[in-house]
Amino acid sequence: MNFLVDSSCRAIHVTNMDTFYDRAIDVLKLESLQKSIVLDIGCGLGHSSMKLLKLFPSIERIIGIDKDIDVVLKSREVVSDTKIVIQLGDIELGSGLHQYKNKVSALFSTHCFGYLENPNAAFQNVYELLEDGGRAALLFFRKSLYRSFIIMLRTHPILKTMLMDDGLVFSEYSPITYTPSEYADILRNIGFKIEGCEEVVKCREYASVEEYKGYIASSIRLKHEATIEKFYLMKKAILEVYMAQYSEISDRNLPCFKEVFLQVFISKPKDCEVEKLYFPKEMRLSAKDNAGSDEEQMLF
Ligand SMILES: C[S@@+](CC[C@H](N)C(=O)[O-])C[C@H]1O[C@@H](n2cnc3c(N)ncnc32)[C@H](O)[C@@H]1O
Repeated sequence: MNFLVDSSCRAIHVTNMDTFYDRAIDVLKLESLQKSIVLDIGCGLGHSSMKLLKLFPSIERIIGIDKDIDVVLKSREVVSDTKIVIQLGDIELGSGLHQYKNKVSALFSTHCFGYLENPNAAFQNVYELLEDGGRAALLFFRKSLYRSFIIMLRTHPILKTMLMDDGLVFSEYSPITYTPSEYADILRNIGFKIEGCEEVVKCREYASVEEYKGYIASSIRLKHEATIEKFYLMKKAILEVYMAQYSEISDRNLPCFKEVFLQVFISKPKDCEVEKLYFPKEMRLSAKDNAGSDEEQMLF
């Protein structure tokens, strides 16, 4: 899996998405979280877990979970604070997480659920992890015009033949995406109480149209089979399509890329009986057999 391709360094201004945690504290009424089991799902190299610890310094332990063993090992090197423990686990399959079932008081996840092929199974597993009254805050990618452009290039009968095999630098977000109200319905059907479900936009501005086009041109690699002239004509044609149909302008009238994220704040009601959606047994956290024992997972 590719991580988010961060081209922010070339942008002149990127809107700050740190408001997510502030909003989570506000909407979910999170206090100190002392003596709580707190999970950070899809913790990557641990930056989100460290951020959580900064926000809740009296927390006893944050458990960062990631499904990629290389990432887990690397983040154990990067994260120095003993209050943060990084473990191998998969929120879609439920593996590595059984020990926390019905015990988690707060669960966070940033920039992970947008990659999942089966977000519904992951939501169900979040539900099963939370204790009654437990709360979860999720922030994940939903859509962007740049992503639509990439999908168009990959599926266009002529344009796709011009691309190199690895010719598009792009995060492999899941093709599955719902509208905010569809997400809210899915979560409600699982049994969650929706405390908030709202879109937020990240905007990367470029100082000039030339710099903007330069970024797009550098992110698309074409095959070198054609003559130089033909190569440049192809690139120019693709850029024209981008500028005509996919380019965006910021509030400050600058060329920009906008990415729409969803921030979801949910809680597991106490003593609540809600009809559950059906999920295949093998995708459920309760399907112990499928996932291997937690003792096995703890070895990592
Ligand atoms: C872009 S990183 C986000 C890191 C961190 N949360 C942050 O906001 O900086 C996404 C991480 O999610 C992990 N991930 C993807 N699918 C997952 C799953 N099903 N269960 C657990 N982790 C997953 C990936 O391995 C990757 O390390």
